[in-house]
Amino acid sequence: MDIEKLQQQLADIQSQAKSSLDGVASVQALREIRARFLGKKGTLGKLMGTVRDYLPEQRGQAGQALNKANKAVGELFERMTEQIASKEVAAEASQASAFDPTLPGVRPMLGNVHPVTAVQWEIEHIFQRLGFTVEAGPEMESDYYNFEALNIPADHPARDMQDTFWLKNGMLLRTHTSPVQNRSMKKFGPPIRCIVPGRCFRYETIDASHENTFHQCEGLMVDRSISIANLIAVMKLLLREVFRREVKVRLRPGFFPFVEPGFELDMSCLICDGKGCATCKRSGWIEILPCGMVHPSVLRHGGIDPHEYTGFAFGLGLTRLAMMKYGIGDIRVMNAGDLRALVHPSRLTGPGIGANT
Ligand code: DAH
Repeated sequence: MDIEKLQQQLADIQSQAKSSLDGVASVQALREIRARFLGKKGTLGKLMGTVRDYLPEQRGQAGQALNKANKAVGELFERMTEQIASKEVAAEASQASAFDPTLPGVRPMLGNVHPVTAVQWEIEHIFQRLGFTVEAGPEMESDYYNFEALNIPADHPARDMQDTFWLKNGMLLRTHTSPVQNRSMKKFGPPIRCIVPGRCFRYETIDASHENTFHQCEGLMVDRSISIANLIAVMKLLLREVFRREVKVRLRPGFFPFVEPGFELDMSCLICDGKGCATCKRSGWIEILPCGMVHPSVLRHGGIDPHEYTGFAFGLGLTRLAMMKYGIGDIRVMNAGDLRALVHPSRLTGPGIGANT
């Protein structure tokens, strides 16, 4: 084989490669032409494998010439590819449907949660650590569970405390989460430790602090020798954990037919710091935790012997708690479907957030 002949051949191939690029308009077309020269079966590609055919003393020279030509042709195609590609992008960008790289990005949906859900998760977590289970009950209830079993017989004046949505089928929309007390007593028998977060309904005129649809979280603990001291300890722990600080509380006697004695636990209003605002009706206090010792007749309705067992119960205003915690002054916000009221995940507190969903 003749080196000079090879060099001539290579020079021809290079000039052919150059002229083959005239008028090429797409990267795809360019790729095909490139294969005709540099592919394994391309003119230059095939020559690359011929180094062995030269005399040993010529192989170095032949190899060098081939590499040089190979590199030159390769670079020629690379340059051309870049040119055509940038032209293609520019052409695409000038069309109406073009991708505009300067537009701001689309905000990813972060899955913000409703303030009530956020507080509910937190409370579930606090109580699960104390060995409580999380129970649920129907929103459409019977008179028995909502009233009778809670020591509120028909015609009892206490029924007036809860304006009720009665349904045409004789049922009602539960006015509180307390009906699940009886359901849980029958389901589990003593000892019982459970909470019941859920939606409740009352026939109320809506204003800044009243809604006809709101959330509560019932709590029930029944065992041998449960006392008021247990009740107070658990309530204090609950508020301390939720607000991450000692919250000022006061305990007043309160009447609920299903507890005896019954209490109203108030906390100082966090919206106005106890100074008085529309949310706390200018009193500086928010009624947040009605509670008490389970009435013997409620235990009996649940099939539990009140001589052997005692218990405490509470009915936490979940909606109100969420308002306190997230500084929402108007209850109407909670059902308004306003996305701005949702809680960003970075504001959720407490480990185990979302664990129950
Ligand atoms: N169910 C009551 C209500 O909605 C709240 C309540 C009060 C629940 C005292 C309780 C309790 O468990 O012990 O008004």
